[in-house]
Amino acid sequence: MTKTLILLFHPDFAGSRANRTLLDAAARLSGVEIVDMQALYPDGRIDADAEVARLVAADRIVLQFPVQWYSTPPLLKTWQDAVLTRMFYIAYEAEGAKLAGKPLLVAATAGNVETAYTPEGANRFSMRELLRPLEATAHRCALAWAEPFLVYDARRADAEALEAAGAYYLSRLNRLPAADARAAA
Ligand SMILES: Cc1cc2nc3c(=O)[nH]c(=O)nc-3n(C[C@H](O)[C@H](O)[C@H](O)COP(=O)(O)O)c2cc1C
Repeated sequence: MTKTLILLFHPDFAGSRANRTLLDAAARLSGVEIVDMQALYPDGRIDADAEVARLVAADRIVLQFPVQWYSTPPLLKTWQDAVLTRMFYIAYEAEGAKLAGKPLLVAATAGNVETAYTPEGANRFSMRELLRPLEATAHRCALAWAEPFLVYDARRADAEALEAAGAYYLSRLNRLPAADARAAA
């Protein structure tokens, strides 16, 4: 069975509506492992051994988070520094190389509307542009970058709109290819 790993980085998941609805939908995927990273590492001290093993065991990797200040929540950066640095700069052959070809999907929610993320809009840059550092990370780690799954207007969205986003998220996850065996060889 294809193993999908969803790492959730939400600094305040207790107050979440959008990410919670998305995760509830994703939980219906067969072979899914969902990890609430903030709950697991409230002090930011990441167990690198455990997180490396999780990534190596997964067939496809999802990073889910609310956009904060045009970027990721701080724990996601901490995870990159602790886990990816070890895998790709310290133990590449034993660890990092094992991720080659696995798809990486970024699933992000944003409070503002999509039109704000245009050259004329309040946020000037598109979400695709703002997510470039993660796309560069995927490229550096030989992960297969998938078209990001984005939910705009996430704070104002009513329950029906969030449910629809959740259903679409589940269908995106179902269609996400498994690791490209040729790339991993
Ligand atoms: C500290 C902070 C910074 C935020 N920065 C942004 C931002 O840069 N752009 C944006 O569209 N929304 C921003 N938001 C709104 C969140 O993205 C939004 O509340 C979240 O995606 C809703 O998802 P949730 O219901 O799972 O919390 C910010 C929220 C917080 C708390």
